[in-house]
Amino acid sequence: MKHASILAPSILAGDHAHLAGSAQTVASLGIPWIHLDIMDGHFVPNLTFGPQTVAALRKGSSLFFDTHLMLDEPHRYIEPFAKAGANLISIHIEPAYDHAATLARIRELGCQNGIVLNPGTPAEAIEPFLALVDLVLVMTVQPGFGGQPFRRDMLSKIAQIDRWRQERGLTFRLEVDGGVDLKTGPECRAAGADTFVAGTSFFGATDKASVAQAIAAW
Ligand code: DX5
Ligand code: ZN
Repeated sequence: MKHASILAPSILAGDHAHLAGSAQTVASLGIPWIHLDIMDGHFVPNLTFGPQTVAALRKGSSLFFDTHLMLDEPHRYIEPFAKAGANLISIHIEPAYDHAATLARIRELGCQNGIVLNPGTPAEAIEPFLALVDLVLVMTVQPGFGGQPFRRDMLSKIAQIDRWRQERGLTFRLEVDGGVDLKTGPECRAAGADTFVAGTSFFGATDKASVAQAIAAW
């Protein structure tokens, strides 16, 4: 089975003095998802925003909140983000905590769950969790900042995870994040990705509708 393509514009590249307006821009184009990057200044060398901001966005938006936690201790923040209105919460494999219990807790709280791996982390690290997740997120840049170049060497990792998905009859979504644009996105699609985070290439585009249309057709 092959999922239809979903675009998840990353609000990291939106207007942080007017995040609700950035979410409205996404909704007005009929795009169902938005990607929310949560950074703690420890796991990644940058800071963004927390559950209070997510809750404020939730009040004015019915978008699917694809919430990417770049935190050293994600297990401590699952509940606040679920309560704030996250629809999907993805957690990194790299820090040491009980990954399986945290993935289960995300579902208990009524959200979809996801597992994320950095460019330097081999696919094998997440392999034991594939049957436990709704989404696998392959980072195609080192997380922390938008606007970085796409790591083409991640394509084989995407293909490996897609192979495992098919062999095991699993249905998780396979998302890519970092440097995804109209050129690199189709390469990810060909490798097996179906869910595309786009920060700079979406919010930086003058014709956002055509970006959305192009991605929907992949
Ligand atoms: C990077 C974030 C990404 C970021 C992608 O740490 O996880 O979601 O917004 O930005 P672009 O699309 O500009 O590479
Ligand atoms: Zn992200």
